[in-house]
Amino acid sequence: MTYDVKNIELAPEGKKKIEWAAKDMPVLATVAKDFETRRPFTGVTLAACLHVTAETANLVITLKKGGAEVFLCASNPLSTQDDVAASLAKDFGINVFAIKGEDNATYFKHINAVLDAKPQIVMDDGADLVSELHKNRPDQIKDIFGSTEETTTGVIRLEALAKSGNLKFPVVGVNESKTKHMFDNRYGTGQSTLDGIIRATNRLLAGQTFVVAGFGWCGKGLAMRARGMGAHVVVTEIDPVKALEANMEGFEVLPMLEAAKKADFICTVTGNKNVIDEKHFEVMKDGAVISNSGHFDAEINLPALKKLSKNISMARPYNEEYELADGRKIYVLAEGRLVNLGSAEGHPSSVMDMSFANQSFAAEYILENYKTLEKKVHTLPTDIDDKIASLKLEALGIAIDVLTPEQKKYLESWEEGTN
Ligand code: ADE
Repeated sequence: MTYDVKNIELAPEGKKKIEWAAKDMPVLATVAKDFETRRPFTGVTLAACLHVTAETANLVITLKKGGAEVFLCASNPLSTQDDVAASLAKDFGINVFAIKGEDNATYFKHINAVLDAKPQIVMDDGADLVSELHKNRPDQIKDIFGSTEETTTGVIRLEALAKSGNLKFPVVGVNESKTKHMFDNRYGTGQSTLDGIIRATNRLLAGQTFVVAGFGWCGKGLAMRARGMGAHVVVTEIDPVKALEANMEGFEVLPMLEAAKKADFICTVTGNKNVIDEKHFEVMKDGAVISNSGHFDAEINLPALKKLSKNISMARPYNEEYELADGRKIYVLAEGRLVNLGSAEGHPSSVMDMSFANQSFAAEYILENYKTLEKKVHTLPTDIDDKIASLKLEALGIAIDVLTPEQKKYLESWEEGTN
């Protein structure tokens, strides 16, 4: 076994976190039990590039129970929980390469360390692992059965790669499952982003103007939860349909230049770059707090902010004060990286339960179908999505109705209309 973690002595604290998270991951536990008896991944090496959290720990333990040899690295330099990484290496036999706050060179060294293990299955979050394979390790591609992809940003990147005709193996876009994006992206991002902002600032949100950039599933969740905390929520969008949806949800919709003038908080969740740019810094109020919960740290133009600043200092952990030439101060959380994982612990286990059940089934789907799957981004079959939702309902003790034979027939026919 190999690993590179911050401090292996942190393992006991990490183990407790992993066990605590497991209590809220009953669907994944059902998958693990099944994998343990069938061991479908026997003889398979799996390389995963995911946020190294207590929830991810439960996923990789599940895959190992299914017979896989697992190599894990971080999908973001700031998202690793060092105690969890230590416990995975010490207590669970996972080859883990991840250190919170690692520099870019170490981040890519760790990505290459898991690829050195010569995996057949790849599990990605943001597509850095798949991108590294395509850009710098083409010789290895023939051995890869396929990849899974966790996030909206990764799916968009991989669809662009497929469209260019250069995607070299099939991908399952886990993000496309309803039991992933409707829960993880919406309720998970909604809660964990506020958690990150509050931990980094300890500010009251009630009565504050909170700008949410982007009204996708993540933005919807964040806007909804910020409103729940009593903030006046403003949404910025580039998509007319989503902007209209935000308006009819009762949010104020503005271009960023207008929103930036009145914001106490701005959080980007767009998946795009320079969403907060130089012209926006120029009009911001003194004391504005800005953060990002999109996958990459490209959404806030930090180089431009640095240029405008005469002084930069740490105000609090994961909260940097940028003092501009005119004396205004702007606060940047978690270095503009994912604030929910940088200054908090990511989405709660209960939603990651379904995301990671999807990841587990996606890995098995690749194993069973890779020989016939087209080299494009696939969605898991609906019956898997429904099975995950049913298992979650069962674990929550929620019963639902079933169609009567008469109702089933009615839905399948066209003859019956107005009585
Ligand atoms: N992405 C968002 N939250 C996460 C978590 N808790 N674990 C792994 N990936 C995540």
